[in-house]
Amino acid sequence: MNVSERSSTISYAIRDVVEYARKLESKGDKILKLNIGDPLKFDFKTPEPMVDAIVNAARSSFNGYEDSLGNTELRRVIAERESKNNGKIYLEDVVVTSGVTEGVNLVFGATLEPGDEVLVPGPGYPTYTAYATFFGATPVSYKTIEKDGWNIDVQDLKSKINERTKCIVIINPNNPTGAVYPKKTLKEILDIAIEHDVFIISDEIYDRITFDDSFVSPASMTDEVPILTFNGISKIYLAPGWRVGYMAFYNWDTLFDIKEGIMKELRARISASSICQVGAIEAYKGSEKYVVEMVSKLKQRSEFAYKRLNEIPGISTTNPMGGLYIFPKIELDNKWKDDKEFVYEFLKMKKVLLVHGSGFCPIYGKDHFRSVFLPPIETMEDAFSRLEDFMKTKK
Ligand SMILES: Cc1ncc(COP(=O)(O)O)c(C=O)c1O
Repeated sequence: MNVSERSSTISYAIRDVVEYARKLESKGDKILKLNIGDPLKFDFKTPEPMVDAIVNAARSSFNGYEDSLGNTELRRVIAERESKNNGKIYLEDVVVTSGVTEGVNLVFGATLEPGDEVLVPGPGYPTYTAYATFFGATPVSYKTIEKDGWNIDVQDLKSKINERTKCIVIINPNNPTGAVYPKKTLKEILDIAIEHDVFIISDEIYDRITFDDSFVSPASMTDEVPILTFNGISKIYLAPGWRVGYMAFYNWDTLFDIKEGIMKELRARISASSICQVGAIEAYKGSEKYVVEMVSKLKQRSEFAYKRLNEIPGISTTNPMGGLYIFPKIELDNKWKDDKEFVYEFLKMKKVLLVHGSGFCPIYGKDHFRSVFLPPIETMEDAFSRLEDFMKTKK
């Protein structure tokens, strides 16, 4: 029996590179992994009260299936959070998913037909490209401009929109570039969405991880454009393995059928984890001190990564304004064929795992790599010293 054509289209650079690292590990090599945005791989810990909430929930027999749309109390708390930060929204406008990743799958499943197009940021988080392709649609990358702090090239985005375009994906703060988009850029995109009658997906999973408080959600700026806001507890509340995320529907009255389609999909997959949703209630209702501590630690680390990487001949980088990642440019100088070979050779020679930039967009991400700035400064110093050494490789 053959594998379906659909599944053979899936690629996910962030985990694909791990296969090669595993081979080296099986031979006894110790690999320093800077490839994955999981804070728990470093010195970050899920807040204790959240862990206690889950343990207590399991002990009090909270172990049955949950409602398909999500725990009602959690949906209420999320609606309050969204209303406070972004724009008035009700419990009925919120559904809980097994992470943002499931949300992407559900929305594209309910909206895309073969031949449709989705505008995705280039570079951007590869799940959007992978799932759009999986459902037979074409992801089209719009340009973001490195010299302008990786801000969105609105003219480029506009030139790529056509009658087949279903939606525009915005990732803000962006993974992998660390860009946080100005209000002006978001306003221009909202105007384009109105003109061309498309909806917006706004992935805000890093909304609290910004270093200058400049984050604005497009949902706070319009009562006209249909927007699906994605968020969750993976990053901000340090619980990526719990797989709890949510979707908030803004201005969705004209897209009632799509919402219904998503609801059917939600029912068919039963529910997100019951006890992990109780942990998420604690996250959203509990003390903010954990977030504040984490962001302060990350700010220091991002500043170190920015400074240290720019000291390395052949490497240059913009300053990330949010998120967990830095996205430097490599002068390949004919020493390496492309960014992928660079990343694999660096791994082989210096035992540090990065992700090749073209994995985030073959056009606008090439000749770059992505590193997390999650590790303690000594660990990053070790990794970037190895990189400095590697850049001295002879032609
Ligand atoms: C922009 C973005 N969206 C979504 C996700 C995944 O979110 P979740 O863990 O909620 O599925 C990630 C993970 O790295 C991400 O960077």
